[in-house]
Amino acid sequence: MDMATRYLGLQLAHPIIASASPLTRTVDGIRALEDAGAAAVVMPSLFEEQVRAEDTAYAMYTEHGSFSQSEAGSYFPEMPDYDSGVSGHLDTLRRAVAAVDIPVIASLNAVTLEGWASYAARLEQAGAAALELNMYFIPADATMSGRDVEAHYVAALRAVKSTVNIPIAVKLSPYFSAIGHMALELSESGADGLVLFNRFYQPDFDLATLAVKADLKLSSSHETGPPLLWISMLAGRVKASLGATSGVETAEQVIKYLLVGADAVMTTSALLRHGPGYMRTLVRGLATWLEENGHPSVSAIRGLKGVDQQDNAGELLRAQYMHLLTDYVPRLLAS
Ligand SMILES: Cc1cc2nc3c(=O)[nH]c(=O)nc-3n(C[C@H](O)[C@H](O)[C@H](O)COP(=O)(O)O)c2cc1C
Repeated sequence: MDMATRYLGLQLAHPIIASASPLTRTVDGIRALEDAGAAAVVMPSLFEEQVRAEDTAYAMYTEHGSFSQSEAGSYFPEMPDYDSGVSGHLDTLRRAVAAVDIPVIASLNAVTLEGWASYAARLEQAGAAALELNMYFIPADATMSGRDVEAHYVAALRAVKSTVNIPIAVKLSPYFSAIGHMALELSESGADGLVLFNRFYQPDFDLATLAVKADLKLSSSHETGPPLLWISMLAGRVKASLGATSGVETAEQVIKYLLVGADAVMTTSALLRHGPGYMRTLVRGLATWLEENGHPSVSAIRGLKGVDQQDNAGELLRAQYMHLLTDYVPRLLAS
């Protein structure tokens, strides 16, 4: 059975990748995922705020040290969160790259153009096989148009592309007025891959304290709809390779993402729920399905159910309305 795939120009043994999560935060975690058969891993995002906080702390400590005579060296690493800050992050990346044979993809969430470019360079220097740009920008300024928002994403991508040589994927949110146009523009601006779609912490209030709280629930397979739709729309239409993320609970969702044209499929919630060993179950499930259905390879099924292959693309686009009219509402009225 030929399970191989190409994603971001990387040759992978099969299409299932462990996406960014606490499981990929340590070298041991990454090794456990490799042992369980992950084709690649994405490390958690390095956040620009993390870097700045450490730079500030570093300046504070070293300036303080320089006024304090001898043993300045003892001030050096004694910063809060030193190990888990940016230095720790880069060190983990370096050690993980040395420890495993699968590609270790880094992830970055920056704010400024300078931040995108310079931190991308640091992740490349630390040995990342590729870089995922975790782009989530909330256009809180209501005078900002959709066009301005798109330009902001493209500028960040260009800043990174002009600085590093490793392949770059852009991990997108589904919150664009024209996802297809955004995807096309990013692909034409040099994105080697697009990852559809990220999920985010949702803001909420605690009614007892009125404090803001953020909550991130693990996903369920109900969330595969938007990525399925947009991967099927984009496959074969953009140069960038396509990574699917959200809602992989079993091998069934992996297969569906491949059928609509994904080059790679990522999973986090399922691994957090069942442990890293669950990667093995997903890979076996995919292999078994291919075999039982007489498909010789992953490439043989990729895009079989893409929009170009549909008799009627509208069937997919208006699926929710048709389902509501013909199935859900009548059942609701009858109950
Ligand atoms: C606890 C947790 C931490 C995450 N951290 C990151 C992160 O640092 N960067 C990122 O791009 N995505 C992050 N994600 C998003 C996941 O990589 C993934 O894209 C998302 O959970 C959807 O996949 P799933 O449905 O398989 O969970 C995180 C998700 C969870 C649950």
